[in-house]
Amino acid sequence: MPKTKYVLALDQGTTGTHVSILDSKLKVVGKSYKEFTQHFPKPSWVEHDLDEIWATSEWCIARALKSAGLTGRDISAVGITNQRETTGLWTRDTGKPLHRAIVWQDRRTADLCRQLKERGVEPRVRETTGLVVDPYFSGTKLTWLFEHLKGARAKAERGDVCFGTIDTWLVYKLTGGTTHVTDVSNASRTLLMDLRTLQWSDEMRSLLNVPGACLPQIRGSAEVYGTTRGMRSLPDGVPVAGMAGDQQAALFGQACFEPGESKCTYGTGAFLLMNTGTEPVRSSAGLLTTVAWRLSATGSTTYALEGSSFIAGAAVQWMRDGLKAIKRAPDIEALAASVKDSGDVVFVPALAGLGAPHWRPEARGLFAGMDRSTTVAHMARAVLEGIALQIHDLADAMRRDSGRTIPVFKADGGAAANNLLMQYQADLLGVPVVRPQNLETTSLGAAFLGGLGAGVWDSPEAIKRAWKADKTFKPKMKPPERERHLAKWKRAVERA
Ligand code: G3P
Repeated sequence: MPKTKYVLALDQGTTGTHVSILDSKLKVVGKSYKEFTQHFPKPSWVEHDLDEIWATSEWCIARALKSAGLTGRDISAVGITNQRETTGLWTRDTGKPLHRAIVWQDRRTADLCRQLKERGVEPRVRETTGLVVDPYFSGTKLTWLFEHLKGARAKAERGDVCFGTIDTWLVYKLTGGTTHVTDVSNASRTLLMDLRTLQWSDEMRSLLNVPGACLPQIRGSAEVYGTTRGMRSLPDGVPVAGMAGDQQAALFGQACFEPGESKCTYGTGAFLLMNTGTEPVRSSAGLLTTVAWRLSATGSTTYALEGSSFIAGAAVQWMRDGLKAIKRAPDIEALAASVKDSGDVVFVPALAGLGAPHWRPEARGLFAGMDRSTTVAHMARAVLEGIALQIHDLADAMRRDSGRTIPVFKADGGAAANNLLMQYQADLLGVPVVRPQNLETTSLGAAFLGGLGAGVWDSPEAIKRAWKADKTFKPKMKPPERERHLAKWKRAVERA
């Protein structure tokens, strides 16, 4: 009998790392999760320790193998997916980080972005990269690092320094420091890649003053980048064969392969992506144009429109850790359901500025409409509603940009388990929200890209067959009621 093939998905998110092991029928046979430290050195700054991210990844790989009753020799391929835009620099020879990674949520380059906008460069940036000038993306974080780290620029110009987003860091570590690559989906989030040529843009590089020698090679999303070397948890020689940014991997894992198919992942932030096919669709409504994936097997690139809101599950964590209103994140659902509505309280989750379609890095979170009858339950309900209201604005912008309606809205990510949130989302959108059985579609997408790259599967059809709906939330709210909610929200956003 042929030996069963297993694929390992390494999903390195903003607050923690998930590892899943899947068999060739895409059944999850083992998994693990571990959180790591969030560093907040100053207000609005967020950093991660790259060495801790790697140690957590190794720990999770070993733990997932154990839970599956497998050893590293059983693994046929590794697929990576990751928090995007988070920016690291390390010494090429030793792998020693030059600084903690600057996380996508970090707003320290807001001034630099303002100066760039004042110089009138934004239209060129948009045209070249599909992105807007905002601290969210890697480009200005890299400018900041080179301006603040003594000697880093000269070292980088000599080719002694590697820049990488988290995918790049993980491949580098998995392959024992031998491989310096990224994939098109991650590169499309840096402000440095030309969306049409899928190569680094000299114009953007010189605008942001980034030495070319530190940039990784841009590769497809499902191909062998290198093989494991010198790890504790996996033997040498396992192909690292797929990678994509977490939101693109989730679009893949939700089997959104046809133009118009869309998904929203409710993780730390919430990200709505629509497959727009093989041509990039430019946005005039404040969305991003991004690469979804490039598959060597088909030789084609798939693009997406994206609406990014920076705070979703993070607002629930803040209710738990900052306000101490709940003990565990899932408790928010019962608390919110203990009142029949939010009592006119509106929450704007701008805890890390406002992303699409507003792009206001200086905006801050806001509770509006409170009076003496307001309880913590009303606030909890307003938090869940605020998450869904942001997504409503993104879906609206997407309809305008793509000229398509979203017929079915596929939801995933940790907070998609929250029924109240899903129902409210369906009510606001006026279309059914479908939740799949496997909420970890990001890992599913990464595993599948890895297996596709290593030849475990030969076409994306298997993922279509494996995708199964769990629950569909049908819209129930009457239009006048919806309009009332949206009008209150609009007023609050203007004040945030
Ligand atoms: O762009 C940031 C995004 O990739 C982070 O995803 O799931 O860690 O919130 P998540």
